Amino acid sequence: MTQRKRPEDLRSKLWFSNPDDPEMTALYVERYVNYGLTREELQSGRPIIGIAQTGSDLSPCNRHHMELAKRIRDGIIAKGGLPLEIPVHPIQETGKRPTASLDRNLAYLGLVEALYGYPIDGVVLTIGCDKTTPALLMAAATVDIPAIAFSVGPMLNGYFRGERTGSGTIVWKARELHAEGKIDDEGFAELVTSSAPSVGYCNTMGTATTMNSLAESLGMQLPGSAAIPAPYRERGQMAHATGMRIVDMVWEDLKPSDIMTREAFENAIVANSALGGSTNAPIHLNAVARHVGVKLDNDDWQALGHDIPLLTNLQPAGAYLGEDFHRAGGVPAVIGELLKAGLLPHPDAITVNGKPIGENCKERASENEDVIRTVAAPMMKSAGFMNLKGNLFDSAIMKTSVISEEFRKRYFSNPDDPEAFEGRAIVFDGPEIFHKTIDNPDLDIDENCILVMRGTGPLGYPGGAEVVNMRPPSYLLKKGISALPCIGDGRQSGTSGSPSILNASPEAAAGGGLALLQNGDRVRIDLKSGRVDALVDESEWAARAEKLAGEGGYPTPESQSPWQKYFRELAEPFSEGMVLRGSTDFQKIASK
Ligand code: FES
Ligand code: MG
Repeated sequence: MTQRKRPEDLRSKLWFSNPDDPEMTALYVERYVNYGLTREELQSGRPIIGIAQTGSDLSPCNRHHMELAKRIRDGIIAKGGLPLEIPVHPIQETGKRPTASLDRNLAYLGLVEALYGYPIDGVVLTIGCDKTTPALLMAAATVDIPAIAFSVGPMLNGYFRGERTGSGTIVWKARELHAEGKIDDEGFAELVTSSAPSVGYCNTMGTATTMNSLAESLGMQLPGSAAIPAPYRERGQMAHATGMRIVDMVWEDLKPSDIMTREAFENAIVANSALGGSTNAPIHLNAVARHVGVKLDNDDWQALGHDIPLLTNLQPAGAYLGEDFHRAGGVPAVIGELLKAGLLPHPDAITVNGKPIGENCKERASENEDVIRTVAAPMMKSAGFMNLKGNLFDSAIMKTSVISEEFRKRYFSNPDDPEAFEGRAIVFDGPEIFHKTIDNPDLDIDENCILVMRGTGPLGYPGGAEVVNMRPPSYLLKKGISALPCIGDGRQSGTSGSPSILNASPEAAAGGGLALLQNGDRVRIDLKSGRVDALVDESEWAARAEKLAGEGGYPTPESQSPWQKYFRELAEPFSEGMVLRGSTDFQKIASK
């Protein structure tokens, strides 16, 4: 360990042992001793380590952190630190209305104030459920005190009658069985709950597994930490190791800005493709990057990630679940396979254990080549995203790897123009109208239509709804048309496998071109040039824009809470990470 900091350099000294201000020191110390801490503990030059606690009864995915925090504390104390737990605003993906993604920035703001305004020298970020990971990494980036992330871990594998049932993914299957009359209401509930057999976050490769794996790929978690299932003994042991390590990181002054460099983000983008990560990842990683002062945009995702193969065979794209992923070697095995093939761009990027990621993972390889494939025998070749542009938006993400053979044959079959097709737009202003009208024959939807969802971006919904992948009308389903092309300014659940064009920015409610689209317009999707355009005459397009502006722009519903209102006033587009305008002006605030 290279010790860069002495006890007198700790920022907590300003509160608890400030020789220039003995009166304020006494006042700060006075209340922290009232539950049994001693002056000796507060004033002996021990680093004070925050444990940013995301677990609570409201947040079942992360609730186990309340237990694991005890082992984190043991680790901190063993190394001479003093732990103080910090409650984080709850973010529960499945419980928060209208959507949990609205609260990512609220939790971020709250944690920034806690880390900055209180005597904290270093912090353990307890991560897990979807947005908890980006919220905490964003806060650590802004404050820039030594920080280490610690996952709660996925749930155990779910099983139903001997078959794996994955969280999120099973709901789609249960709906089909229910619709076909193969299971009743009771059977539906039984099947769905079988996918959540223990404490922990979603056991599929949805947004949670994606973001926890990316936190490790970025170098912000100890190697091997992300994939350990929540109830395993190794989870508690990793909690202890994490608590020990953060104390050393404070003495070494190893900060988020030292770890989350441009190189680390490039590694994470490559890892995301190999993992088969969620389309929510660019939103969250771009946000973290902006708060640590690294330039990162959706063009980087396409340039660095598109041609990377998919190695991880996890539901919904594959067969397995979280326990299998851990036993096959987890994130270090995926990184190890990428390293062997020379695909990890920056093996030298430093991680929280003070060592380069390449050194941490070079001895690691898949321990089950069906669960984690090798680069020579991948699940799929180019598994990353495309960043599409055109007159409907400046940026939208498409996971081209999930375009099925059937879909490709139907839409990309013109020999003269094999990567493009044109369709007739059917436009929905929000999921409620979609559900009400999709089966109405008056809409005249056929297999040459493109379904468009708008009003569902960060401002429209607010926070952005996961609603862009839309099912065809039932009369087309019966004809065997199982998917239509979809475009929208909302998001898509990480557990869905549909090739939609998502996260369109700017959204309709922020003046994006989607707001001008009308039923029946022709839309051209061209994957070769990376463009999506409404084939509408320019003068007509301008006239529509003028008319809409005269009407006050695309309507947004009224906010139902103060935070929704502030969020709508301040949120930037998905392509910019949906960060709060102005928040990225504040950089490395703890050292100022
Ligand atoms: Fe919390 Fe999936 S709902 S991790
Ligand atoms: Mg989700």
